Amino acid sequence: MKVLIAGCGDLGTETGLRLLRDGHDVVGLRRRAERLPSGFERLAGDLGDALPPLPHDVDAVVFAAAPGQRSVSAYRRVYHDGLAGVLDGLQRAGASPQRVLFVSSTAVYGVDDGSWVDETTPTRPNSDTGRVLVEAEQLLFEAPLPGTVFRLAGIYGPGRTRLLDQVRAGEAVAPQPPVHTNRIHRDDAAEAIVHLLTRVADPAEVYLGVDEAPVDRGEVVRWLADQLGVPPPPEGAHQRSRGGDKRCRNDRLLATGFAFAYPTYREGYAAVLRGEGVRHP
Ligand SMILES: NC(=O)c1ccc[n+]([C@@H]2O[C@H](COP(=O)([O-])OP(=O)(O)OC[C@H]3O[C@@H](n4cnc5c(N)ncnc54)[C@H](OP(=O)(O)O)[C@@H]3O)[C@@H](O)[C@H]2O)c1
Repeated sequence: MKVLIAGCGDLGTETGLRLLRDGHDVVGLRRRAERLPSGFERLAGDLGDALPPLPHDVDAVVFAAAPGQRSVSAYRRVYHDGLAGVLDGLQRAGASPQRVLFVSSTAVYGVDDGSWVDETTPTRPNSDTGRVLVEAEQLLFEAPLPGTVFRLAGIYGPGRTRLLDQVRAGEAVAPQPPVHTNRIHRDDAAEAIVHLLTRVADPAEVYLGVDEAPVDRGEVVRWLADQLGVPPPPEGAHQRSRGGDKRCRNDRLLATGFAFAYPTYREGYAAVLRGEGVRHP
């Protein structure tokens, strides 16, 4: 299978490396294509501008770009206009991939009362950037190609040490009242993309990409403090985070036969603390 990964950064590169390991061909598209590892076919291009010609013989496409800043205009340029450009480029190339997988986010759900969320929950984002993601998803649903939207929870993993650094520095707070956090290790997110593209015969339109344990954020920071041997973070008022307060279900992904290497934050952060893996530039 030949897979085009558009916006090939940390997650895209890890996905590509796994596809290469499984014997597939990978084309990585990004502005700084020289950063892609050997084995990738490199395609330099800006998703917000006219793209270089896309390969005509791609069997699948992964869109995994992330804008450098959290502004509506940056989101629109990368997610909406970028996806539109890729879909248009595929059509102009005469390509007919079996699947286009768009990496989205659980930010499309505006849920903030701690209730459960799954693929059937209506998307009512409570941020302007979340609304752009919904528009981009819609673009894919309306495209004449088989599309899958993969809504990821907060990615953590090698080199993503913000929460660890906060705990280590004594700057983390255990929110009171408690707030849920939903997470996925970078490697599980990458492996799930490979799984959906290459092992699932007829993937659904939407999957949530989240591990098996929505968890009280306070529990996570207390556990991390214990692992790091620093005092437990104090309780404190929660600063509203982008994640809102929800609990994401992964039943649909599990039903495809996917197995998590890091089912909860404990296994995942233990691997991060052991220094396993690298963040791809
Ligand atoms: N971080 C999270 O917690 C989280 C949560 C939910 C969903 N996600 C989603 O996960 C996906 C992957 O995230 P990641 O962590 O792998 O991000 P990342 O490491 O920042 O990679 C994103 C890549 O997009 C490329 N890119 C950005 N603007 C571009 C443009 N105009 N044209 C071409 N390429 C462009 C960048 O490469 P160049 O600079 O070389 O162009 C970058 O390598 C994204 O879709 C993100 O929305 C992330």
